[in-house]
Amino acid sequence: MNLAIFASGTGTNAARIIDYFRGTVNVKVCLIVCNKPGAGVLGVAEKEGVPTLLIEKEQFFRGEAYVDELKGKNIDLIVLAGFLWKIPEALVRAYPGRIVNIHPALLPKYGGKGMYGRHVHEAVIAAGEKESGITIHWVDEHYDHGEPIRQVKVIVEPGDTPETLAKKIHLLEYEHFPKVIEEVLTHLPNHR
Ligand code: GAR
Repeated sequence: MNLAIFASGTGTNAARIIDYFRGTVNVKVCLIVCNKPGAGVLGVAEKEGVPTLLIEKEQFFRGEAYVDELKGKNIDLIVLAGFLWKIPEALVRAYPGRIVNIHPALLPKYGGKGMYGRHVHEAVIAAGEKESGITIHWVDEHYDHGEPIRQVKVIVEPGDTPETLAKKIHLLEYEHFPKVIEEVLTHLPNHR
């Protein structure tokens, strides 16, 4: 099974996923797709020797969304790990039931455009929520919308700041995301 990780941030989840599948014979992270030159995740890819594809906005949204490039690399599953652009319909159609996203909150709350990373944790704290968490879900053509695969909760303590909450959430992500990807892979139909 060939994984492509789409990420535009520091890439700490991407690093954990690469690490988790290192040495496995049948799962390979074979591509990192990124829209941001200089993003930390590109350094992760370089260190790990994973090829990268730097994508360009116009081509992603107006063209065929790099479908040919991905198909050419025999990608089985696309994993969004801190990727902030909406996935265009062409790509969703080309990979039905084969794109998963992680979101750092309990969807459907605190999702949608502009809700990413730190903004999510600020909003959760500002609203006085007692709990937050992570949502791993299938991707459709709407932001943060597809069917949930797994949610895991964390308590928001009275003294939490966006930074401390982000740390807790990241730890949850590192623990659960690679395992959920592994589970998803075992249930994927074996054709591309
Ligand atoms: C993760 O917390 C992920 O849940 C979030 O971006 C972070 C990426 O961190 N994704 C979103 O907010 C998507 N809406 P990383 O680059 O260190 O893996």
